[in-house]
Amino acid sequence: MNKNALVRLTVDFFMSALMILLMAYQVAGETAHEVLGTAVGVLFIVHAFLNRRWFSSFYKGRFTLLRALQNTFIILVLLDTLVVMITGVMISGTVFAFLNITWGVGIARALHLCSSYWALVLMSVHVGLHWSMVTGMARSVFGLRAPHPARVWTLRLLALAWAGYGAWAFDHLQVWPFLTLQMQFAFFDDAGDAMVLFRWASVMVLFVVAACWTGRAAQALLRRQQGR
Ligand code: HEM
Ligand code: HEM
Repeated sequence: MNKNALVRLTVDFFMSALMILLMAYQVAGETAHEVLGTAVGVLFIVHAFLNRRWFSSFYKGRFTLLRALQNTFIILVLLDTLVVMITGVMISGTVFAFLNITWGVGIARALHLCSSYWALVLMSVHVGLHWSMVTGMARSVFGLRAPHPARVWTLRLLALAWAGYGAWAFDHLQVWPFLTLQMQFAFFDDAGDAMVLFRWASVMVLFVVAACWTGRAAQALLRRQQGR
């Protein structure tokens, strides 16, 4: 078993699961949100450390359209993460309350809301653009062989249906008004906890699927150009 891939997959899984829990603020509650928010911050650092070669080889190798997309989204994810974390610490009422920050708290709250919604979108796109790495690692950890085409298409159709529900959830959870700073007050979904979590996971799936296919289209374009 490939231990390195297992560690990466485990970190990826917990980061994704925590992102869903953090977005569903009403499910976790304030104290748990702050503790889990701090924990995901630590996981981001571990994840960046595990991928440190990306930083050192930034200018090396060939720049394809897919690589340009991947790099752009990593930089956006990195910048947005910094905003979410810094504003989270500033508005913290429990974990970082001892810092007693009073300056700029109003702006920090509005920025925290907006940047956390962007974090969900950007990180999902980031995962979708690296989907072939995820499946490659999953194969090496679980010793899976290339699946039968019928199974691949069944999974693709299921992912598409889930992404379709994600498009509905995107609208229902009012993600767009939060992304564009039109909404600055908390949104409360009156569904049960499990449903709220499922809806946030579906928004994530929507962007993972869209980015995964955009990445594949970029690769196909490159192959076509090379074939000429
Ligand atoms: C929910 C949060 C995130 C998830 C689920 C996620 C997922 C992934 C996945 C699946 C990969 C492929 C390799 C691997 O699994 O290690 C990857 C690569 C990478 N991620 Fe993330 N990531 C997240 C957040 C971040 C953040 C905050 C950064 C900021 C530094 C980041 C930087 C990178 C880098 C530099 C790579 C290497 C890319 C490459 O070699 O092409 N990720 N990420
Ligand atoms: C990636 C990490 C994080 C994400 C995605 C995130 C997401 C969110 C979201 C979506 C809300 C709005 C909840 C609502 O009222 O509907 C929120 C509020 C809040 N977050 Fe975070 N958060 C993160 C990290 C943190 C951290 C590290 C802290 C502090 C330790 C923190 C502290 C807070 C506080 C105090 C509120 C309540 C703001 C208010 O009074 O309206 N968050 N967060």
